[in-house]
Amino acid sequence: TWSAVPAGPPDPILGVSEAFKADKDSRKINLGVGAYRDGAGKPYVLTSVKKAEDLIATNHPDKEYLPITGLPEFTKNAARLAYGADSVPLSQGAIAVTQSISGTGALRIGGAFLARHYPHSKVIYLPTPSWGNHTPIFRDSGLEVRNYRYFDKSTVGLDFEGLKADLKAAPEQSIVLLHACAHNPTGIDPTPEQWKEISDIVQEKKLFPFFDMAYQGFASGSTSRDAFAVRHFVSQGHQVALAQSFAKNMGLYGERVGAFSLTTADPAEKARVDSQLKIVIRPMYSNPPMHGALIANGILSDPALYSEWEAEVKGMADRIISMREKLYNMLSKDLKTPGEWGHIKSQIGMFSFTGLTQLQTKALAEKAHVYMTADGRISMAGLNAGNIEYFAESVDAAVKG
Ligand code: LMR
Repeated sequence: TWSAVPAGPPDPILGVSEAFKADKDSRKINLGVGAYRDGAGKPYVLTSVKKAEDLIATNHPDKEYLPITGLPEFTKNAARLAYGADSVPLSQGAIAVTQSISGTGALRIGGAFLARHYPHSKVIYLPTPSWGNHTPIFRDSGLEVRNYRYFDKSTVGLDFEGLKADLKAAPEQSIVLLHACAHNPTGIDPTPEQWKEISDIVQEKKLFPFFDMAYQGFASGSTSRDAFAVRHFVSQGHQVALAQSFAKNMGLYGERVGAFSLTTADPAEKARVDSQLKIVIRPMYSNPPMHGALIANGILSDPALYSEWEAEVKGMADRIISMREKLYNMLSKDLKTPGEWGHIKSQIGMFSFTGLTQLQTKALAEKAHVYMTADGRISMAGLNAGNIEYFAESVDAAVKG
């Protein structure tokens, strides 16, 4: 029956983890998937998460189905985290929000909702490059994917002129996907001033902004600073779509907890949008899992746990920054590796877009057992005091060929 099914390629990101697992060398390093590791290279369960879980265990909640759009307290608190406690549409009751299977699920619900209900366009513009899963998510949602310029190879920075020109040239009312903070894979974000210009262009061209905020807190260590772009757009009167993930900032990867929201004109419109979100979700997975939402809500709804969590997010961001500093010093000062490595320090969030070529990343995997995505992106969180020297020496060897 399946003889005509062709073998598909491994996933560009999760396939790296599979290759890493299969490697038996003790020096191996996985810098592929964006999952935080502590200073000893181990997965990290936040103390605030453990405390929230202890409270859940004590309360023995029932195992009934959640509503189709998830745990109401969680979605309310997730929206407040993103839009801010003083958000106008939030206080007006005009934000439709649903729990989602983490950020991917949020993007997929959003893509499906827009494909069905956005009346003006079926075209979504993604930055070049973007997270590897964006294109398949939106394509499979029924949208047509196009691109706008984002990364400038020559400066290893933002191609702001290219970005502006491409958004200005896009057909009016197209959908545009914006990484709210800690752009994946480049680690390069627009400045607040640049965001304001982008917001003006989006307004002029009547584009529809869809924010992917998978790293709130990870870019700067502050959840409100990282929400600048979303909050600025909303303050300028834009209606936005927003995908949120709690995988990174709460370390809840496998719990699959996130949220999708749309700002609407008023509570009546919100109620209609809510009803259609349910109609999109019900045939996909009926209703979302409960445990992750209980944990995230436990943190978001308890002031003491919330402050503890914020400090832990900052701790993760700071450890990554210290690894950036170390790696930069090793490559540019100690080893004098050919090339300019300043971007390792200036990029933000979980990733560094190293500029290593596909050939070099292949050599790193085959010769040094060091794994990263083929585009040269490394998850900085995979580096620690125990492996950073070996990593820097391996990169040096790969660059010197
Ligand atoms: C990544 O980019 O590594 C993460 O967002 C994990 C994933 O699902 O790809």
